[in-house]
Amino acid sequence: MILNLDDYEIAARRRLPRPLFQYVAGASETSAAREDNRAALDELKLVPRVLRGVEGRTLRQRLLGEEWAAPFGIAPMGISALMAFDGDNVAARVADREGIPYVLSGSSLTCLEEVIETNPRAWFQAYVPGEEDRIEALVQRVAEAGYRTLVLTADTAVLANRENNLRAGFSTPLRFTPRMFWDFGIKPRWLFTTFLPTLRRQGMPHFENSYAQRGAPIVSRQAARDFGRKDHLNWDHVCRIRDQWKGKLVVKGVLSHLDVAVARDIGCDGVVLSNHGGRQLDHAISAIRALPQAKAEAGHMAIMVDGGIRRGTDVVKALALGADFVFIGRPFLYASTIGGERSLEGAVQIMKNEIYRDLGLLGLRSSGETSSAPVLHPN
Ligand SMILES: Cc1cc2nc3c(=O)[nH]c(=O)nc-3n(C[C@H](O)[C@H](O)[C@H](O)COP(=O)(O)O)c2cc1C
Repeated sequence: MILNLDDYEIAARRRLPRPLFQYVAGASETSAAREDNRAALDELKLVPRVLRGVEGRTLRQRLLGEEWAAPFGIAPMGISALMAFDGDNVAARVADREGIPYVLSGSSLTCLEEVIETNPRAWFQAYVPGEEDRIEALVQRVAEAGYRTLVLTADTAVLANRENNLRAGFSTPLRFTPRMFWDFGIKPRWLFTTFLPTLRRQGMPHFENSYAQRGAPIVSRQAARDFGRKDHLNWDHVCRIRDQWKGKLVVKGVLSHLDVAVARDIGCDGVVLSNHGGRQLDHAISAIRALPQAKAEAGHMAIMVDGGIRRGTDVVKALALGADFVFIGRPFLYASTIGGERSLEGAVQIMKNEIYRDLGLLGLRSSGETSSAPVLHPN
């Protein structure tokens, strides 16, 4: 029975081939960063107020100059269209209907031009290419497609050490091996409702949005994915993108308040505090722990957080600590994996209902009120 966001993981484990499930669920090295994302939230205690008349509550929240139906959005997740049939458009469509932000990943398998048709308010997340001319060409492509918010993910200077992917036989591109045939073959529901329909519709999916041109296929015997030279990227590159990009600019994967200050000073519109769901540097501080110091440096910028947000109470806690908005990753991908749009819509509804109920139980009438009311116990 699916009653909350954690329940989708159990269902998705049954549905997805092992390498794919492990890719989504896993984290780097010891998974300490992923686990601490939860611990940091669980440690916070709420202090409700009573008898305050909480009828007519609203979840509406403004972010980056727009109004959204709730204070959470769908985080960018690579290769979603391999987990769920047409996964990028599924998430884009549901987000549009539900009035929440959707961020298309730079490691996605659906052309960014198609996704903005599906959802004109979608954001695009870029992995900044390592070469100057490729950066400019990608930013130009995103602008020409009509995106108005560009998210630069900054926490991937080098590839993470995801041992669980190696153990589960996951790589990008995926390699045709006897073991992969077995892993795919014993999950017929995924095979017949996701993978084969995808092959029928578009052939072997490719990384469509890493650069201005198409990248490597997702399954290949020989092709290597071109990660480019990224370890020299620095804030000067963000400055140049700021000059070129006229829309809203957000940097994702920031954790130090010092980096928040740099982002503010070069004119970014927001940052997403994130340790990438614990998938990059193990033991990286959780966004929730980094939030108070980061908030103090944010100035005009919007502060968003992600990592381990699973309950309405988690959202309320993040807002009470000073976040303007939160993003949720894995549970939304699991939801679209098991039942496409209907199931993802259910997950979004569950989260909206939880926040709505929690506001009432806290004695609040809007999510905006959480930042000014003393909702968190000081210890
Ligand atoms: C399967 C998967 C793929 C991801 N791909 C990307 C990506 O392409 N770009 C990015 O900025 N973050 C990516 N992330 C990180 C998410 O955007 C987000 O930071 C993280 O999932 C939040 O943690 P949560 O899953 O605990 O909610 C990915 C996360 C997962 C689980």
